[in-house]
Amino acid sequence: MSKSGLDAFKYDQTEEKIDLSKKVRVGIIGTGWIAGSHIGELKKMPDVEIVAGADLVPGKAEAFFKKFEVEGVKCYPSHKELCDAGEVDAVCVCTYNATHAECAIYALEKGINVMLEKPMCVTLEEAVAIRKAEKASGKVLTIGFQPRFDNNMKMVKDIVQSGVLGDIYYIQTGGGRRHGIPSPYGTTFIQEDTGVIGAMGDIGCYSLDMVLNAIGYPKPLTVSGYTSNFMGKDPDYFVSEGKPAEYSDIFGVEDFAAGFVRLEGGIILDFRIAWAMHLDTPGDTIIMGKKGSLRIPSTECWNGSIGGDLKMYQRVAGKDVVTTFPMLPPREKSGFYYKLREFINACKGEEATLVPSEQIIINQAIIDSIVKSAKLGKEIEVEIPEI
Ligand SMILES: NC(=O)c1ccc[n+]([C@@H]2O[C@H](COP(=O)([O-])OP(=O)(O)OC[C@H]3O[C@@H](n4cnc5c(N)ncnc54)[C@H](O)[C@@H]3O)[C@@H](O)[C@H]2O)c1
Repeated sequence: MSKSGLDAFKYDQTEEKIDLSKKVRVGIIGTGWIAGSHIGELKKMPDVEIVAGADLVPGKAEAFFKKFEVEGVKCYPSHKELCDAGEVDAVCVCTYNATHAECAIYALEKGINVMLEKPMCVTLEEAVAIRKAEKASGKVLTIGFQPRFDNNMKMVKDIVQSGVLGDIYYIQTGGGRRHGIPSPYGTTFIQEDTGVIGAMGDIGCYSLDMVLNAIGYPKPLTVSGYTSNFMGKDPDYFVSEGKPAEYSDIFGVEDFAAGFVRLEGGIILDFRIAWAMHLDTPGDTIIMGKKGSLRIPSTECWNGSIGGDLKMYQRVAGKDVVTTFPMLPPREKSGFYYKLREFINACKGEEATLVPSEQIIINQAIIDSIVKSAKLGKEIEVEIPEI
C-alpha cells in the first residue's frame, strides 16, 4: 500500500502539448552571458518568435543574434527603445543586477510581460517598485529561479509541506564554493556598479528560496547580517585562478555573507553563502521540526542543486529512525527550459507555474537587510510594505 522512499517521489512527467495557434513575440534585453541560455531554450519553442534585442554596448546585440543564428531580429541601444517599439509581447531581462529594476519596470509599464533574471533586483526598495509596476500593469512577471523546476526541490517542499516534520523552528541553509568567484565571462558580477550584490545575489538567493519556498515564505522580522570580501580583494586569489591580479582592485561586492534571521511563526533562519573560502562547504541545509528534521546535503559548488540523498530524522515508538529519500534523476529538459516554458505559457494566458515576485520580494528583503545590518553592525527590523 505505502510507497517506499525510493519510488514515492517519482514525479509524473506529463507530455508537453504546445498550442501553436498563438505565438509569443519575445525580446531579449541584455545580450551577455546568461542571454545565451535564454536564446538556446527559446529557440526550441515552436510558439516563440525572437524578434528584438537590446544591449548598451554598441554592436553587442547584433553579434549575439548572429552567433546564435537567429535572423531578422531588430536590435536597439537600450531596453527603452526596445520596449517603445511596440513589437514584443514579452521580454527576458538578462542585464546585470544593477539594471534589473529599471528594465523590468519600464517593460511592465509598456504592457510587456517580463521574465526577470535572478536576483530580482538589488534592494528592497527596488523590489517594492517592481511589485507595484507589476500590479498596475496586470502583466505576467516571473523571476528566473530555475532550481524551482528541479524535482529534488519539489521533493524537499513536499516533505516539509506534508507536515511530517511538525512545526519548523530552526533552519540552517546556504552554500559555498572553495574557488568560485564568477569572472570567466567578464567582470560585471564582481563590480559594484553592475553587480551591486555579489555571492548573495548570485547563489545565496537560491539557498534562501529552497527553504523559504518549502515553508511557505514567512516574512522576516529581524536580521543580523555580516558581509566580507577577503578573497575577492586578495590579488593572489585571482592570479591562482589564472585571472589578472587587477580583478581584486575592481572587486566591489561581497564574496561571503551570513545572516541570522527571525521569521514570522517563531522560525530561526541561519544563513551563510560563500563564493570563495578556505573550506570545502559551509555545511548542509537542515530543517528542524518538532516531530522530525530533514538534512539536505550541500555540494562543493553551490549552484542551486542538492548534493545527495535527503535524510529525515524522527523518533518512532521510542526509537531513533532515519529515512532516506534518494536523489531524483534530472528531468528530461533543463530547469532553464522549464522556467522559460512556463513563462511563455503564462504569456499565452495558459495555466503556468511562475516564480512569483510576491514571494521573491521576501528573499530580496532578507538579502537587503543583511547588507544594511552589516553596514550598521547591528540587528535591524525588516518591514516589507503592503503593495
Ligand atoms: N539563472 C541563472 O542560472 C543565471 C546564471 C548567470 C547569471 N544570471 C543572472 O543574469 C544576469 C546577467 O548576467 P550575465 O553574466 O549575463 O551579465 P553580462 O554582463 O554578461 O550581460 C549583461 C548585459 O546586459 C547589458 N545591459 C545592462 N543594462 C542594460 C540595459 N538597460 N539595456 C540593455 N542592455 C543592458 C550589458 O551591456 C551586458 O551586455 C545577472 O543578474 C545574473 O545574476 C542568472
